[in-house]
Amino acid sequence: MTLLELDDLSVTYRIASGEVPAVRGVSLTLDSGAALGVAGESGSGKSTLAMALLRLLPRDARVGGRILLGGEDVLAMSWGRMRAVRWAEASIVFQGAQHGLNPVRRIGDQIAEPLLVHGLAKPDAARKRVAELLDQVGLPAWRSRSYPHELSGGQRQRVMIAMALACSPRLIIADEPTTALDVMVQAQVLTLIKDLVAEHGISLIMISHDLSVLADVCDQLAVMYAGRVVEHGPSGEVFHEARHPYSRALAAAFPTVGDPLSRMAPKGLGGDPPDPMQLPSGCSFHPRCPVVLDECATLDVDLWPAGPGRTAACVHVRSDASVPDASVPDASVNEQAGTTDAPVDAVDAQAVEAKEEAS
Ligand SMILES: Nc1ncnc2c1ncn2[C@@H]1O[C@H](COP(=O)(O)OP(=O)(O)OP(=O)(O)O)[C@@H](O)[C@H]1O
Ligand code: SF4
Ligand SMILES: [Mg+2]
Repeated sequence: MTLLELDDLSVTYRIASGEVPAVRGVSLTLDSGAALGVAGESGSGKSTLAMALLRLLPRDARVGGRILLGGEDVLAMSWGRMRAVRWAEASIVFQGAQHGLNPVRRIGDQIAEPLLVHGLAKPDAARKRVAELLDQVGLPAWRSRSYPHELSGGQRQRVMIAMALACSPRLIIADEPTTALDVMVQAQVLTLIKDLVAEHGISLIMISHDLSVLADVCDQLAVMYAGRVVEHGPSGEVFHEARHPYSRALAAAFPTVGDPLSRMAPKGLGGDPPDPMQLPSGCSFHPRCPVVLDECATLDVDLWPAGPGRTAACVHVRSDASVPDASVPDASVNEQAGTTDAPVDAVDAQAVEAKEEAS
């Protein structure tokens, strides 16, 4: 059963110097109990998309399209209904949210707050529920009396997850839930989220720039570039056999767990993501694309079928040819210069050479 449906969702921020089209025509669905990963570089619109789902955007943001949560039109909800939906039906764990805990209130009181505000429990029952939630996220009940500064970053993030679970929502949106945590704690928190959503049948939208993390936790992956979804499909397939050159570059940018060689030969993508106020014409990725064609600068790109249950916004997919593998230049070419880091210019030069050779 479909829990969440986004239809042509767009978000534009109005700022003094003009308009920032942060999310552009995103259509996605999420089934009950399923997990969707949203990946993309910094500025690709991931957090804007997440905040739009619960109408948490600032006033200067104009939202278009449609968001249906459990069949209800989120953009048409009254503020009263919207407040009831937040926490109780869908909750969000923000990017770096552990820093957002109130430093002068005990952990237990902060976890109990959504339960009390939504009238879901009386104080005694809320205390019991807090102990239960702390147990679910692997913290002892006595921690409810602690203040945030008495906990580590990983423990604080566990508290945020307990808060998100408090009202038994049907959907949790986790925006970079492990950013700023060390790798060991990151793995623990990810395993925790994965287990909790599976155990309670909660739907999950997890946002990260790290495709490998998303592929591990989520069933489906959507890759965003410049506010648009450029590839979507089953997570293992998108991660291991991406059809869009940008997804390939993103997948190759992280070392493979258990493969030490991949750590020594990182692959990267040259250039910076585009300024949303000055988007390139045609396919927004064309100035950075290692397999660009002449037509890409004027092409009206769309998400085209790219295999069973998959779509990708690339002309190579539309013409039903496989995407040439020059898409991810190998950063190890710099090893002779004594470094495995890939300076952007060097990667660009390699990509241009590869293209010239191919043509
Ligand atoms: N309140 C705002 N006002 C104006 N522009 C904004 C605002 N918030 C975000 N933006 C712009 O919208 C675009 C998308 O930002 P967003 O925070 O959604 O990206 P992101 O993919 O979450 O990036 P990151 O990985 O760095 O968190 C960026 O160009 C950003 O500068
Ligand atoms: S449409 Fe063209 S520029 Fe865009 S990703 Fe495909 S080949 Fe590259
Ligand atoms: Mg973000």
